[in-house]
Amino acid sequence: MQEKDSCCITDDGSREKKEYWDANFEKNETPNWIETEAPWIMTWINDIDLSKEATIFCAGVGNANIVEHLLQNGYKNIIANDISQVALDTLSSRVNNNSVTYLQDDLISPKKIQDYKGKIDLYIDRATLHFFTKCAEKDHYFSQMQDLLKTGGHTVIGVFSKDNKPKCCGLDLQLWSIQSLHNRMPDYNHTNSTEFAYKELNGNIRNYIYLLAQKQ
Ligand SMILES: C[S@@+](CC[C@H](N)C(=O)[O-])C[C@H]1O[C@@H](n2cnc3c(N)ncnc32)[C@H](O)[C@@H]1O
Repeated sequence: MQEKDSCCITDDGSREKKEYWDANFEKNETPNWIETEAPWIMTWINDIDLSKEATIFCAGVGNANIVEHLLQNGYKNIIANDISQVALDTLSSRVNNNSVTYLQDDLISPKKIQDYKGKIDLYIDRATLHFFTKCAEKDHYFSQMQDLLKTGGHTVIGVFSKDNKPKCCGLDLQLWSIQSLHNRMPDYNHTNSTEFAYKELNGNIRNYIYLLAQKQ
């Protein structure tokens, strides 16, 4: 059986990145990658000794349910970032809560994200990092994450493992191993890692790796 594509719209290169992602979220259907159950990373997050006042930065959050689950677990200071205003509008119409700040910005060419430098206790990214394939993008991504985090702050990153096609929706993907993430993050304690096979809504299996790390 031919594998269905993961996203709704195939990139033909004609759109800017923001327009591309906006067009995906404008489609009136749930994206295939969306987690419908409680995100399993909540167990990792609840095991970190994190104050409920901690500042949590959700990078490339789309309209993921992680935000609701953080709120349900009592966290009061959540920044929901995405390049797509459409995604954030969808999320904010579902989650209308003063504890959430919606921050439309490009992780790679940011205009506002720097305001949070040194203020983040927990950085979360599921399924965004692997869209950054150029060296300069990856360099910027990891150095920005490090700048955002307080010393002792944690990060939870979930990305496609090497056991996937390096293409999604016409977009090239960077596939990762635990070791390659470790190599990019020398100034962290690598607290935990795991592999996770995720069954998307269309039935495709996507193999993720997850890393929990603490900035030294
Ligand atoms: C596959 S989706 C994952 C969404 C969400 N993290 C989840 O787990 O459901 C990738 C997300 O990355 C966002 N994104 C892509 N490039 C971005 C960038 N340069 N800056 C911020 N967000 C970006 C997209 O808009 C999209 O919401």
